[in-house]
Formats: sequence, structure tokens, C-alpha cells
Amino acid sequence: MSSVVLIGSQWGDEGKGKITDYLAEHADVVARFQGGNNAGHTVIVGDIEYKLHLIPSGIIYPGTKCIIGNGVVVDPQVLLDEMNYLKEKGIEVSPDNLKISSHTHIIMPYHKILDGLEEEARGDAKIGTTKRGIGPCYVDKIARVGIRFCDLLDEDTFKSKLMENITLKNRTLSKLYDQVDLLDYNEIYSLFMTYKELIAPYVDDVSVILNNKLKNGEKVLFEGAQGTLLDIDHGTYPFVTSSNPTAGFASVGTGVGPTKIDKVLGITKAYLTRVGEGPFPTELFDEVGDILGTVGHEFGTTTGRKRRCGWFDAVLMNYTANINGLTHMAVTKLDVLDSLPIIKICTAYEIDGVLTKNFPPTLAELSKAIPVFEEVPGWNCSTVGIKTYAELPENAKAYLKKLEELIDVPIAIIAVGPKRDETITIIDLF
Ligand code: GDP
Ligand code: IMO
Ligand code: MG
Repeated sequence: MSSVVLIGSQWGDEGKGKITDYLAEHADVVARFQGGNNAGHTVIVGDIEYKLHLIPSGIIYPGTKCIIGNGVVVDPQVLLDEMNYLKEKGIEVSPDNLKISSHTHIIMPYHKILDGLEEEARGDAKIGTTKRGIGPCYVDKIARVGIRFCDLLDEDTFKSKLMENITLKNRTLSKLYDQVDLLDYNEIYSLFMTYKELIAPYVDDVSVILNNKLKNGEKVLFEGAQGTLLDIDHGTYPFVTSSNPTAGFASVGTGVGPTKIDKVLGITKAYLTRVGEGPFPTELFDEVGDILGTVGHEFGTTTGRKRRCGWFDAVLMNYTANINGLTHMAVTKLDVLDSLPIIKICTAYEIDGVLTKNFPPTLAELSKAIPVFEEVPGWNCSTVGIKTYAELPENAKAYLKKLEELIDVPIAIIAVGPKRDETITIIDLF
């Protein structure tokens, strides 16, 4: 048995897609366990760029099976569009290499409408969601009115659940949000009958599939979306997403027991970024922040929004290393730091005049946190495409060693460029 859970250890966009694709060479199966098409994962192989939102990044490797777990929320139109996008790029997508859990919840048209209306209603307190209907879909799941793929496949269940939801949502739209354009049952029903025909062959019991594969000694990679600081329980609530991107949810979100998980790999950007609202202690507002954003092409894959950039934060990383039980880190985008003469690492916060190395539990405290930095010299030369650890400049090695010391987790992989082969393996995870 060999299984690795791969998660984002910061605020998302750490390069999970690239590392998932890289590890997929050795994995038999790649399974997504939470989130939806709020995720944007870029994978570059040779000169071809793939932008994935829903389908696991392992799909690009021929022979690797992909699974969308019960913890994910799926917009059927996005799923079908992504399948076509991949097929046009010559990638096989069929029921032979992609399965969706029958328990996966469906993002309905009203979830997307509500995501927009709720954000508008929040005014200055907006979260900055991706407006993909993620939050409202998870709300319905927890409220026990959600519609799953197994419900879509059963005509009577789908009819009654759709009617129940449309009646409820139309009341919310008209009474709470003063909307005049309401949902039409027949229109949505016939749209979903088209989806049903196209998606039914992919729907299966993924828990059984995964458990059997693990029993047979196959290698499974669980691919997380978003990042730990966006976790609904452990993140910077309420500036979070509505799922659990932390490692523990790999088990819940696929139906595989926690005893079946061997390693937890935290994808860790060599600096820090965040999209959307919420506190960010090491955020940079000067030209260094601009350099990180420009050199690192820090624009959202999903919404195209400019990502906020800042220095590496060891206080935050220690917190997320614990929450996930990280056994290894993959440090990405080291090359983005290549031209900086001085690199800063946040090692503590000062909150109300008191020094702390603990990530504060409340947003009020985090908003007041003044980062305490340690400075290290840069390396002032290109690391792009370097193939071995030994070839890295000494100051880059010293920077990585410092991160390992501060987080107390070994680095297994280093990424020095966006392409698949711009990657250094230090420890083989499979
Ligand atoms: P994800 O959401 O965690 O999969 O990350 P994204 O794909 O949204 O954002 C990471 C961005 O950085 C993508 O554009 C990647 O192509 C790119 N990237 C990943 N690793 C590296 C790296 O080591 N160096 C550079 N320069 N770019 C990288
Ligand atoms: P990947 O997988 C970065 C952020 C949004 C917003 C908050 C809530 O590419 O790392 P939502 O639409 O989920 O309700 O938005 O979460 N967010 C992400 N930020 N990377 C992501 O995914 C994100 N998915 C959601 O910007 O602040
Ligand atoms: Mg992303």
C-alpha cells in the first residue's frame, strides 16, 4: 500500500497542479477530495499549458486513473466543458480513466446565482468568492437538501428534489433579494436530463474502487484544492472557502479510512500569495511585491484576479504543518526569488507589543499581527530548470535549509519553473 495526500499549505495556488502532475507519473490513481471549480490548477508539459478546475491534474498522464470524490462539488457544465477542452488537447477522458462518486453534490444554477447575490449583500464585508456557487452548494449539502449524482440518476428522486429546491430558492430570490427573474423548473429539468445522459457512465462507487486499488497495492495520490488557510474549520474564517482542504478530509472526501494514508505532502510556495479578502500579515505593498507578482505571474487561474504577494511566513506554516500532519514539503517557485538581493522570512508576530510564534486564533488578533523578519541573502542567478539539489546556488540551499529548520518538515521536492521537468526530487514519495 502506498498513498500520499497532497495539500496546499498556505492560501492556495501553491503549485498543487504542477506537483500532482509530476507525481502522477508514479501514481496509479489521482483522487480529488474537496472543493470544486473554484480551484485553478495550471500544468505545463513541454510547450503545452493545461488549465484544470475540476478534473484531477493526474489526467494528463496516460494510464493514470482519476477520481472525483464525494467531498467535491461538481458543476456539470464545467465538467463537460473541461472534458472537451482536454479531449481537444489530445488527452483521453472516458469512463475508463475518470470516475465520479455517486455521492458527489451537484452545483445547481441557483447556487451560482446565490453566490453572486450573497457577495453583493455583504457589501464591504465581502469574502471575494470565485462566484462559482461553491458556498451555496455546500450550504445545501449540510442543510440536507443538496442534490447528488445518485439523485440525478434516479428520475423520481431528482424530480422531487428539484421541485423542493426550486420552490425554496424562488422564495429566497423573490422575498429576500427582490429578484423578478425566477427559476423555471422545466428549463432546469430538461438541461439536467442532457447532463444525466452524458455523465451517467462516469458515476460509480469510488470508495469501493479506491479501497480495492489500495488492497491491490496500487499507488494513490489524493489531490487537495485550495489551501489550509482557506479551510472552513482551520482557516482565516470567514475569509475561507466552504470545504476542508486539509489532509484529514482526504479520508472523508473519498471514503478511504485514515489508516490507509501513508504520507502528507504540503505544497509550499517559496513566498506567499492570497486571492480575495482577509488578513495577510507579510503582504508586500512595495516594488518587491510587484516583482514577485510579475516574475511569478501571480494572476488567478480561475478568476484572473491579481494575487496579493508577500514574504514566506513560518508562523503560518508551522500552524498548517501541524493541522495537516505534514510528513514532507514540496517548495515551489524558488526561481521567482532568483533576482532578489535580500529575502525575508517571517519568524514571529508582534501582537499588541507581545512576541509570539503561535498563529493567533482570531481574525482580530491576526489583523494586528506585525511580522518579525529574519533576512537572508539572495543568490542573484537563475535557478530555472536546475535538475539536482547539488547544482543549486549555495544561498538557495541555505534558504531551503532555513525553511526546513523553521518548519521541522523535510523538503521532498523543489520546483524551479512551471514546467513538469523543472522539478528536483530529493525524496521519492512513491
Ligand atoms: P495550484 O492552484 O496550487 O495548482 O496553483 P496554480 O496553478 O493556481 O498557480 C501556480 C502557478 O505557478 C501556475 O501558473 C504554475 O504554472 C506556476 N508554477 C508552479 N510551480 C512553479 C515554479 O516552480 N516556478 C514558476 N516560475 N512557476 C511555477
Ligand atoms: P486553488 O485550488 C486561491 C478563495 C477565493 C475567496 C475564498 C472563497 O487554485 O489553490 P469560494 O469561491 O471558494 O467560496 O471563495 O477562497 N479561493 C481560492 N484562492 N486558490 C484557490 O484554489 C481558491 N479557491 C477559492 O478567492 O477568497
Ligand atoms: Mg490555483
